[in-house]
Amino acid sequence: MDRLDELRRRHEAAEQGGGAERRARQHKEGKLSARERIELLLDEGTFEELDKLVTHRCRDFGMDEQVVPGDGFVTGYGRIHGRLVYVFAQDFTVFGGSLSEANAQKICKIMDLALKMGGPVIGLNDSGGARIQEGVVSLAGYAEIFLRNTLASGVVPQISAILGPCAGGAVYSPAITDFVFMTANTSYMFVTGPDVIKTVTHEDVTKEKLGGSMTHNSVSGVGHFIAADDGECCRMIRELLTYLPQNNRDDPPRRACADPADRMDAALDAIVPAESNLPYDIKDVIHRVVDEGEFFEVHEHWAKNIVVGFARMDGRPIGIVGNQPAFLAGVLDINSSVKGARFVRFCDSFNIPILTFEDVPGFLPGTEQEFGGIIRHGAKLLYAYAEATVPKITVITRKAYGGAYCVMGSKHIRTDVNFAWPSAEIAVMGPEGAVNIVYRRELSAAADQEAVRRQKVEEFKERFANPFVAAERGYVDDVIEPRETRPRVIRALRMLENKVDTMPRKKHGNIPL
Ligand code: HXC
Repeated sequence: MDRLDELRRRHEAAEQGGGAERRARQHKEGKLSARERIELLLDEGTFEELDKLVTHRCRDFGMDEQVVPGDGFVTGYGRIHGRLVYVFAQDFTVFGGSLSEANAQKICKIMDLALKMGGPVIGLNDSGGARIQEGVVSLAGYAEIFLRNTLASGVVPQISAILGPCAGGAVYSPAITDFVFMTANTSYMFVTGPDVIKTVTHEDVTKEKLGGSMTHNSVSGVGHFIAADDGECCRMIRELLTYLPQNNRDDPPRRACADPADRMDAALDAIVPAESNLPYDIKDVIHRVVDEGEFFEVHEHWAKNIVVGFARMDGRPIGIVGNQPAFLAGVLDINSSVKGARFVRFCDSFNIPILTFEDVPGFLPGTEQEFGGIIRHGAKLLYAYAEATVPKITVITRKAYGGAYCVMGSKHIRTDVNFAWPSAEIAVMGPEGAVNIVYRRELSAAADQEAVRRQKVEEFKERFANPFVAAERGYVDDVIEPRETRPRVIRALRMLENKVDTMPRKKHGNIPL
């Protein structure tokens, strides 16, 4: 009986974490406790906790007096929409959620299980970083986690939620995972904080500006999603998982679909403006084509000239990449190339077909881009598309110029099915630029330069800026009416369902990082 009491006492102590006072402070700051978060994340009553009785082994700095069973991290497994997931949550009320040797081993244990069983890992981060009292032992713990993040990359989906501080080298675990969620006002991430920055560079910067959710979601691209609070964050993670397979040997989950596969949409015929330099919103196209108009956008606030995210066609999850004519004319620059490349590689890792909507005037010119390495970064997108072996379908809605034509899922880099709308313009460059180069001598000799230019531009448009030259060569498989996009893409996806394509034998490629 004594043992039973002892067990209950230990469980109770683990559940109390850092105590009522610290929990109240956590709530006052708009944050939930680790256990409350797990409850919101998982299907009700499915959480199985592991290592609840683990304690730290530090005897310095009076730490032997402060021992909390579980050592502040809650780890285990449970279900989301009935599917197995592994989860860890850092409890900020226990030593600021700091990472000790003991709780690093707890994380490694569930990551090892996740790899063996093939299930996603979700980390709920809220931590002051390495446990200062443990020194290098804590650093070793981080490194063990980083190793597992790397080994699990491309094998099981890994999702990080940043729900409080995440500083120093600790940021590199979320950074290796596939998706980073951040809560709007309570999360921040940085390698070195404001105080160190002040000392080293004399810059004054707030925590929020340096590493808040909007900074990482709109400027750095480190964050993929912003949630209003912990509750919304958990709901968003649950939704994301409906698009993902359990692991790289699994297919993404299909669901029954009430939206007819043969649904036409006449509004698509009028969506591209007659004037080819006028913008339209590629998301309007996406919403009209996919099941029930549902699009789960990734990286919504960063590099808006490309749009990426998940949707379903015929009940089957797909990844969508679309150039966005409504932002910077949909041009490809450094950030949009990296954003697109990362998303394409995620989809390819996890057997998610890729549907590309293309309307791209080319790569962004300028010294800023060239000095920043647009060659290297643009090459990432090209590389990602070329190496992807999942079913790939491209629909050219309007512009497909120059290198960007090759990059954005062209036939030549083994895209399976390529469609073009009648409004497509597929050429080496836009008519104005082409005429200026090809007819430079004629133009400078002409009495009425403008009239000659206009006539040549019209000729060029007529001859090249259309989908038919590419269709005559079979570079696009068909020119389709915009209204029939959904049925045509669904039929192509069905045809591609059992696609097998491979890469040459290699350890791994050398993507231009
Ligand atoms: C041990 C820590 C801790 C840590 C916080 N605490 N961080 N204990 N190790 N790293 C404890 C505090 O002592 C305090 O305990 C409680 O957590 C809450 O901390 P507060 O400072 O009161 O909270 P707040 O004001 O919200 O500030 C949060 C914070 C700050 C900004 C995170 O605590 C902080 O700066 N912590 C240190 C961060 C840091 O430098 N970590 C090392 C980074 S380097 P009590 O008992 O009072 O409640 C790193 C390397 C990783 O992590 C390398 C990987 C390769």
